[in-house]
Amino acid sequence: MRAQIQKVPQIVEFLKKKSVGLQHFKPTSSVCVLEEKDAVEAVRCPHAASRAHSLDAIPGPTKWPLVGSMFELHRKGGLNRQHEALVDYHKQYGKIFRMKLAFFDSVNIGSPCLLESLYRKEGKYPQRLEIKPWTAYRDLRDEAYGLLLLEGKDWQRVRSVFQQKLMKPTEVVKLDHKINEVLMDFMGRIGKINVNGRIKDLYFELNKWSFETICLILYDNRFGLLKKEVNEEAMNFITAVKTMMSTFGMMMVTPVKLHKSLNTKRWQVHTEAWDCIFSTAKVYIDRRLKNNSARAPDDLIGDILHQSNLSKKELYAAITELQIGGVETTANAMLWAIFNLSRNPGAQRKLFEEIREVVAPDQDPCGEHIKNMPYLKACLKESMRYSNKRVMLGGCKTAT
Ligand code: HEM
Repeated sequence: MRAQIQKVPQIVEFLKKKSVGLQHFKPTSSVCVLEEKDAVEAVRCPHAASRAHSLDAIPGPTKWPLVGSMFELHRKGGLNRQHEALVDYHKQYGKIFRMKLAFFDSVNIGSPCLLESLYRKEGKYPQRLEIKPWTAYRDLRDEAYGLLLLEGKDWQRVRSVFQQKLMKPTEVVKLDHKINEVLMDFMGRIGKINVNGRIKDLYFELNKWSFETICLILYDNRFGLLKKEVNEEAMNFITAVKTMMSTFGMMMVTPVKLHKSLNTKRWQVHTEAWDCIFSTAKVYIDRRLKNNSARAPDDLIGDILHQSNLSKKELYAAITELQIGGVETTANAMLWAIFNLSRNPGAQRKLFEEIREVVAPDQDPCGEHIKNMPYLKACLKESMRYSNKRVMLGGCKTAT
């Protein structure tokens, strides 16, 4: 999902059209990041009829100099429990509130219809939330930006290459057999490792499943993560992704430049994690390019390198990001879907009936089947709506 808030006047206009106040709402939340200067611009904006619709007038928790609401958030459980604090703040301040966490100034939106209006204002190119610790790493090591970090025409150039190969439904259905191959192994493993119906760390097992799947798609290679003896290199990659993810949050709210110049422990760990991610992905990509010089028909990486004008450096960055993007997100969404279905036996039964009706006992499930499975799609969407509550939208840049 992506949305863009190009200019603050647009937000102001958006605020004028919607009544903002203390209302009951579904606890979803999205956040748009703003610069201090944008608030000033907003007040001066000719479209802003009054201060009542300026950014300064948006309600929100304490905005103390430098720290903003950090202490308040800390009392509510800190960055790790942010999702709960957001629900509280929405209850307190209404559908839109502004929150400043040290150097991270944001507007939070907690209503599907407001979110829809915002998405409809999206321009041709997304303007992303800049993840400064990530861009700082790329700049430090002279690595390229991939789809998660690029903006404007560069984003479109890289995106159009991957759009053809990975995002067109007609291309995606060709991946059925690879997805099923890993899924069969995963089901076999789950059958073996459960003790009296309990699995020690289902989330980690799901991470291994999603890693194995995305790697088979990208590199046409199995990494043996679902076997008893797992591949250490691949396990290190998963651990590095988790470390990278768990260390960047604090560097979003405190200046990454400071972490870098003081060479803080957090910056060191973050950098080491990225080093591991990039070096592992490069080995996989190079191996794929070398082993497949004769070019198999499903050679995704070779096709992209040869049929597009992407440089090798850009290919490394884009594929690495796909590999990262494909692991945690999918494992997380699946974990929540399983959890939510387990709490709703009625929905589980209905879903099972739909699957039985659509997929014959002697068939493997495939993309074509999903077209006739509205309840499956509804379950996944509902689970993501209900459980993955927070979406970060690209916006104007933070003021570090
Ligand atoms: C249920 C699973 C997934 C969820 C919930 C999810 C969520 C998202 C969201 C919210 C965005 C937009 C971020 C933004 O606008 O800044 C995004 C973008 C992206 N995701 Fe996913 N994702 C999932 C699966 C995947 C998989 C399997 C891959 C890799 C194969 C992937 C790769 C990417 C990439 C490369 C982008 C950037 C796309 C662009 O800007 O053109 N994601 N994802």
